[in-house]
Amino acid sequence: MENYQKPMLKEDSLEGKVILVTGGGTGLGKSMAMYFSELGAKVVITSRREEVLKATSEEISSKTGNEVFYKAGDVREIDSVRNVIKASIEKFGTINVLVNNAAGNFISPTEQLSHRAFQSVIGIVLQGSINFTLEMGRFWIENKIPGNVLNIVTTYAWTGSGYTVPSATAKAGVLAMTRSLAVEWGRKYGIRHNAIAPGPFPTKGAWERLFPEEIHHLIDPTNRIPLKRVGDHQELANLAAYMVSDFAAYLNGEVITLDGGEWLQGAGQFSDLHAISDEMWEMLAQARRHKRKN
Ligand code: HXC
Ligand code: NAP
Repeated sequence: MENYQKPMLKEDSLEGKVILVTGGGTGLGKSMAMYFSELGAKVVITSRREEVLKATSEEISSKTGNEVFYKAGDVREIDSVRNVIKASIEKFGTINVLVNNAAGNFISPTEQLSHRAFQSVIGIVLQGSINFTLEMGRFWIENKIPGNVLNIVTTYAWTGSGYTVPSATAKAGVLAMTRSLAVEWGRKYGIRHNAIAPGPFPTKGAWERLFPEEIHHLIDPTNRIPLKRVGDHQELANLAAYMVSDFAAYLNGEVITLDGGEWLQGAGQFSDLHAISDEMWEMLAQARRHKRKN
């Protein structure tokens, strides 16, 4: 096992904290929830499918011995969001950390999308993050709790990306909200806002929708990544746990990219020269020397 696949923080690092993870029943949300619970936090997971939440919460608490609460809801619906927060506070007394992780996404030529397709992804990613952030923020402000928010975005939040335009549009909004509130609520209430921009981390949700088997040979993400591998869930959970913990008390308004260098590979105009062999470099050098002599 590589070091990045191992838990990183001290065992009690999140003791005394209640952490709510949206989309916490599957994928990266589940991996973060699992590690937060291992580190002593009381965890709440929420998403639309109650049976998935139930199974995940049982799996986590049986592994860590810590209480996990689940409440089904739709992040797009404000009443549903209020209901999840209210039930969580009734259960655990408070909430200290919000992780906006729930997402919807698919690949498609943009001109083929209906307005409802756009609305669906914008609703989950942007409006969903707004709903939870506003409701949690008001609770923290009213109760003088210096809570913190971790938003899970992606690297195309700032580059944009064709074929995932609803998601790129929504994630850009979440990133803008992260930085804006880091200043506004940081100064007034001591509430921190940060984000993680993951590169490709294999999850059923993302892989089924974004890397379908039929076209995998065209878009295998490992080909684009300088470090030549996809991410490991534990390394993302390690970073997330640090960012929501009090060890990161001075980290505010930051987006940390965890992608093996993927987006910069695309940005550098000459980065594809890795395709040039050593022999070819030697030939180019010889030609240059020859030209200089003559
Ligand atoms: C085009 C689509 C579509 C698709 C749905 N729609 N899927 N259009 N291509 N593949 C359209 C529908 O036709 C409909 O429009 C509208 O979207 C709403 O569809 P519903 O099925 O009713 O939506 P809903 O039940 O709200 O489901 C939301 C969803 C779904 C986003 C469509 O995929 C979902 O539940 N996703 C949740 C999990 C997820 O996406 N995980 C991946 C995150 S990965 P009409 O007009 O027909 O009514 C991620 C990684 C980023 O974000 C970076 C990776 C490197
Ligand atoms: P995932 O397993 O599909 O997670 C998405 C979660 O969101 C699911 O648990 C889903 O549960 C929940 N969700 C969707 N719509 C919802 C709604 N309306 N209300 C409440 N919950 C809803 O995918 P993932 O890969 O782990 O993605 C997690 C996060 O990482 C997302 O923000 C994604 O954009 C980001 N990310 C992932 C990658 C990657 O490579 N995996 C890369 C960059 C960024 P229900 O269906 O039960 O509602």
